[in-house]
Amino acid sequence: MDQAFIARSNAYAPYSKFTVGCAILLENGEIIHGNNQENAAYPSGLCAERVAIFAAGANYPGVAVTSMAITASPIDDSFEKPVPPCGACRQSIAEYELRQEKPIEIYFMGAAGKVARANSLSDLLPLIFDRNYL
Ligand code: THU
Repeated sequence: MDQAFIARSNAYAPYSKFTVGCAILLENGEIIHGNNQENAAYPSGLCAERVAIFAAGANYPGVAVTSMAITASPIDDSFEKPVPPCGACRQSIAEYELRQEKPIEIYFMGAAGKVARANSLSDLLPLIFDRNYL
C-alpha cells in the first residue's frame, strides 16, 4: 500500500481531481506502479488498475501477479472509506487471474482509514464472462 500511495502521487487527473494509485506485486518480487491517466477526450483516459496490470503484462509476460494494492480519493485526501476497483478494471484483472491460474489478492482503501481485502479477484466479480464463452 505504501507503493500505491507513491503511484497515486503521480496520477494525472486534472478533470475529475480524483486520484488513484495502484501497486502490483509480481511473484518475482518486482513492483509495478499504475495511476489514473485522464484525457481531454474523457473516455480516452484509463484507470490506475488497468494502467498497472497492462504494464505488468507488457513488461513481465509470464510472471504471475501476486497482489494489488489500491488507494483512491479526491486530491484533497478527504476520502476515508475503501474504494473498490470499477467493473471494467475487475474484468481486466480477471483475465490475468484466469490466465495465470493463481489468485490475485486485492487490497483497497481511500486516502486513510480501513483497508479492505479480497483473496481473489473472483470474489469481486462473480459470474464472469471469460474465454470459455467464446
Ligand atoms: N478511476 C480509477 O483509476 N480506478 C477505478 O477503479 C475507478 C475510477 C479513475 C478514473 C478517473 O480518472 C477517476 O478515477 C474518476 O472516475
